[in-house]
Amino acid sequence: MQSTREMENEIIKVSRSATLPNMNDLHGKRIVLGLTGGIACYKAAELCRSLVKVGAKVQVVMTESAAQFITPVTMQALSGQPVFTSQWDAREGNNMAHINLSRDADAILIAPASADFMAKLIHGKADELLSLMCLARPIQTVPLIVAPAMNREMWAHPATQRNVAQLKADGAHVLNVGQGDQACGETGDGRMLEAEEIVDELLSFWTPKVLQGQHVLITAGPTYEAIDPVRGITNLSSGKMGFAIAKAAYHAGAKVSLIAGPVSLSTPRGIQRVDVLSAMQMRDAVHLAVQSATIFISAAAVADWRPDHAANYKIKKDGSGDTPELSFVENPDILAAVARSTRAQSGELFCVGFAAESHDLLAQATAKRVRKDVPLLVGNIGPSTFGQDDNALLLVDAEGAKEMPRDTKTHLAQDLVKEIASRIGKNHSRN
Ligand code: CTP
Repeated sequence: MQSTREMENEIIKVSRSATLPNMNDLHGKRIVLGLTGGIACYKAAELCRSLVKVGAKVQVVMTESAAQFITPVTMQALSGQPVFTSQWDAREGNNMAHINLSRDADAILIAPASADFMAKLIHGKADELLSLMCLARPIQTVPLIVAPAMNREMWAHPATQRNVAQLKADGAHVLNVGQGDQACGETGDGRMLEAEEIVDELLSFWTPKVLQGQHVLITAGPTYEAIDPVRGITNLSSGKMGFAIAKAAYHAGAKVSLIAGPVSLSTPRGIQRVDVLSAMQMRDAVHLAVQSATIFISAAAVADWRPDHAANYKIKKDGSGDTPELSFVENPDILAAVARSTRAQSGELFCVGFAAESHDLLAQATAKRVRKDVPLLVGNIGPSTFGQDDNALLLVDAEGAKEMPRDTKTHLAQDLVKEIASRIGKNHSRN
């Protein structure tokens, strides 16, 4: 095992000039992106770009109608691959584009999927390349993922809903639709999900559901302790690590509740979020939500103290040069209280603590784990990670310490979720 100093040197070693690992979560995935006719084709350009950005190899296939909305030239430039639009494409040696394109694909993603195209799919129609390819795909090994896009009336029509149900029954993975303003001027359900949301769905699709059936409660971000109506005490936590864990846990199949201090981060899809300001509010929200949770991850940087009295009005200078007298009271330790509860002690609730330290990480984290009485504690060096997109973690449990080297918070969160999943259900020693 490394010495404390070696471990810390390793963890503190932050080369800001070095390029961070790419967000290559779909690295090596071969995706056939099928476009059908609809105004949402404009979003397919961004989707293609996003998929390439996260490491996927994208092969675009377009119907004739899709080519009315966006050109194959655009899609070729974005995917870096020639686009297929016809089953008679002579570029294929055997003239069987419908077979060749699907055989080594990891998935076929139809985005946008028009109402008409979904109707074709459920009937096994094969009168042009894209539907022919979908029908000819090896159904057991090449999943079909469908992102519908249409006017709200078309989406709500019983025929469309019947088709969606049938598509699902046939094994397709049909994504939800978005809600909002539509190109036709109406407002409602039926918009295609945004590119980022579809990429997120794909990541989730390929994530093993190691937390299926679990309810994960996560706290994230700083707290804000008011001095008066315009001032307060807070810290530099951005909430990025906690939000990344929430997303990773959701992708791993968990129901996720997130209690967030004041942060400027958007809520990841599928996650129930409660916003709080102070440590006392966070404690109340946790106590309410933790009753049904099976895993509690306390990633928030909770303020240790709060002013014992928040002034009702702004404290003013009186010109004398005197400074206001502030006195503090200690905030309750949210994690320690939860970890002491009967459910946590009986193993019904698995608690994970964090330790934000500035030095002596291994020693501090080891002592903090015992003090907080949690089976797993995640140590990190606060000043080198607060607000950043990357981090380095030190996992401490009863068996010892394990380093998770510097990486993006997204990747660390995914690995942390696996570590937690491997521990739940086991009888964990706290000492
Ligand atoms: N924590 C908490 N409630 C508090 C303080 C901390 O729930 N009032 C939780 C944090 O969310 C984290 C863990 O306890 O999971 C450790 O937080 P940290 O700030 O590192 O340590 P403290 O307990 O505050 O101790 P110290 O500041 O002395 O290091």
